[in-house]
Amino acid sequence: MSATTHAQWSSRMGFVLAATGSAVGLGNIWKFPYMVGQSGGAAFVLVYLLCIALIGVPILVSEWMIGRRGQKNPINTMAQLARQHGHTRNWALVGIVGVLAAFLILSFYSVIGGWALAYMRDAATGAFSGLDKGGIGAIFDGFLARPGELLSWHTLFMALTMIIVAMGVSSGLERGSKVMMPALALILVVLVGYGMTTGSFGQAVAYLFNPDWTKLDGSVLLAALGHAFFTLSLGMGIMMAYGSYLGEDVNLLRAARTVVIMDTTFALCAGLAIFPIVFANGLDPAAGPGLVFVTLPLAFGNMGGGLVLGSLFFLLLTFAALTSSISLLEPVVELLEERTPMNRVTATVVAGLTIWALGIAALLSFNLWGDVKLAGLNIFDLLDYITSKFMLPLAGLGAIVFAAWKLEQNSVKQELNLGNTGFAVWSILARYVAPLGVLYVFWNNL
Ligand code: PHE
Ligand code: NA
Repeated sequence: MSATTHAQWSSRMGFVLAATGSAVGLGNIWKFPYMVGQSGGAAFVLVYLLCIALIGVPILVSEWMIGRRGQKNPINTMAQLARQHGHTRNWALVGIVGVLAAFLILSFYSVIGGWALAYMRDAATGAFSGLDKGGIGAIFDGFLARPGELLSWHTLFMALTMIIVAMGVSSGLERGSKVMMPALALILVVLVGYGMTTGSFGQAVAYLFNPDWTKLDGSVLLAALGHAFFTLSLGMGIMMAYGSYLGEDVNLLRAARTVVIMDTTFALCAGLAIFPIVFANGLDPAAGPGLVFVTLPLAFGNMGGGLVLGSLFFLLLTFAALTSSISLLEPVVELLEERTPMNRVTATVVAGLTIWALGIAALLSFNLWGDVKLAGLNIFDLLDYITSKFMLPLAGLGAIVFAAWKLEQNSVKQELNLGNTGFAVWSILARYVAPLGVLYVFWNNL
């Protein structure tokens, strides 16, 4: 339990960058910009920022706080803190659900990371050049139909993830984020810069920012709440694990502010990079895999400089996925390291290979096992559904309820460095607003 033998981040900035790396992912690139455009522009951004401030930040800070106090993997941390405060060991369930969610999510996340790698090669070799919509769609469909190829890229992506995680908290996760996050920002700046030259930048800005208050309704609020949760990588044991490597000197609220600002900035800039290209080529703004793997390649294949810009875009996607995938593997590895005699490298190999094997089942749902379904969902969709709709909200809810109701609150006030008024605000958010917000989302998922 001594903090000296447990790994630590080497600097506050390294920790913040690693947490931002986890937060910035596919959610920022293929989901958020589209949500904004469809749901009321600046009006939606405002609602979203409220959700982030009132619900996202309290849960993020709670997970870090719990992790830092426990200095262990999420399961042992929850069990130990519960015991110290005289509560039932069942609180360990919060850690169990979180780590299990990370384990399951990484299996299919790695498959998509593999797509990003494959498309980076395709973009660089000019595979999209001159193709029409049908041709680009055929590339994607053909790719998904070939399990061997999907497997190679999934394997490569998982191997990269394992190599970084095996190197450790400060020399792996932290150093990797220190390299990849600035690169990510730089690529995004280049792509936004290109967007400004397309002649459709104004249209993109209007799509993203013109406020339309009439679009705000219950379903938009629900979407904003759910996204606030997902975008900050909450409820997966990630932020608890990252907190367990934190020293006492880091101000959690300030760190949360930085992570949230960076995550939102990345998401908005992704929109300013993507939509000018989409509009300049007369394409449909859409969300999800279709946007990234069909619409954009179509544009890259038919514009000047598409080879370079396309390669850069998929490098961006790869880095965004990789800084998230390492964060998904970390809680699982931390658990194995602490609960078994395995050292870090062995733990990484064992966890990584197990997740890789499950990922094979996920990638087969696009072809050979397409008909293997439970409740109408194939394996890939099932993994996504169970984790995002049930496990994440439950683990996030458990974390905030524990932090706000079960920890000794004077020490929380001190730890968060808050005065009386600040702490009163914190308490209202952490005890009522945030849990009710998550419950509302969870309820609607049922
Ligand atoms: N926070 C990431 C995003 O916004 C999502 C994510 C999911 C990250 C799972 C890590 C693990 O895209
Ligand atoms: Na995010």
